[in-house]
Amino acid sequence: MKILSIESSCDETAAAVVEDGRKVLSSVIASQVEEHKLYGGVVPEIASRRHAEAIVPVVRKALDDAKLNMENIDAIAVTHAPGLIGALLVGVNFAKGLSLATGKPLIPTHHLRSHIASNYISHKELKPPFMCLVVSGGHSHIVMVEDYTKMKVIGRTRDDAAGEAFDKAARTMGMSYPGGIEMDKIAELGDPNAFEFPRPVVRDAPYDFSFSGLKTCVINLIHNMEQRGEKPPREDICASFRSAVVELLVANFMKACEDFSVDTLVVAGGVSANSLLRKRLDEESAKRGYKFYKPDKSVCTDNAAMVGSQGYYEYLSGNIADLSLNAAATLPIDYR
Ligand code: KG4
Ligand code: ZN
Repeated sequence: MKILSIESSCDETAAAVVEDGRKVLSSVIASQVEEHKLYGGVVPEIASRRHAEAIVPVVRKALDDAKLNMENIDAIAVTHAPGLIGALLVGVNFAKGLSLATGKPLIPTHHLRSHIASNYISHKELKPPFMCLVVSGGHSHIVMVEDYTKMKVIGRTRDDAAGEAFDKAARTMGMSYPGGIEMDKIAELGDPNAFEFPRPVVRDAPYDFSFSGLKTCVINLIHNMEQRGEKPPREDICASFRSAVVELLVANFMKACEDFSVDTLVVAGGVSANSLLRKRLDEESAKRGYKFYKPDKSVCTDNAAMVGSQGYYEYLSGNIADLSLNAAATLPIDYR
């Protein structure tokens, strides 16, 4: 079964053709990041306008690259939630129009479920059940994936997402949006023990995260040093901050896997590209004899191939929308 998939939840307009949930026939991503960099973050109205401009050429290229036309496509999957509402609506309305014009089924797809599915593309043998750490710019969840479309949230962030904490700390150090990637590179050059940042725990919620105190701490450290006329040592601050975020993520995730007796672990979302997080999860999984899967770096951040993968399993489970489908800025990952 060949699915044409569309993603427009944030600042990437993307389309792909994916066969049977696992084989990527084409994947096209038009990023708006250069424009948002000017403002230090995503400007929702600009995002919507750029999606409206890019959606037709991006979908056309995805079909061309796969050497297919709409007659060869069996269904259309689209990210309908969660994300920036104006951005999501561009993809959703385009997919509805295409479904109406061609009579092909329309599959609503949850953005975070799609991030998890990026692993089905990278690892053909991977099947649920497994425990997944989903870490992106907007979310940080520990999710028990019981089946492709059946999942339970075990832990979540109480404030900032991991990616958001990286981006905000990086911005204070003058890095451009999204700073998480650059911070990861600079951290490689520094000493992770140079600064002792707090490792906050959420009382009575051992699988939940809190990153806002950590973020405030690094921002205060930098401002105080600047006020004293000192030059903040970027390498050491990045390395210490990255280490604090990663150790919090790894500790709670490992605890959840132990407590729920799960031995297959998966990581997903933009922050899963972080080199220290990948390394530490490799190490801790090996120590405990767990199987650990991480997505190829090419599918960690937003793309439509992952939407085509998850869309296939949503289709098999009967999740097909009619033309009343709407976008939603928020929607729990276990919504159905
Ligand atoms: O999943 P994603 O592409 O978009 C959302 O659904 O939010 O994630 C983007 C986030 C950004 O916050 C970005 O800074 C972060 O992922 N990110 C990283 C790295 N690569 C991307 N954070 C830390 N280290 C990285 N290597
Ligand atoms: Zn994402």
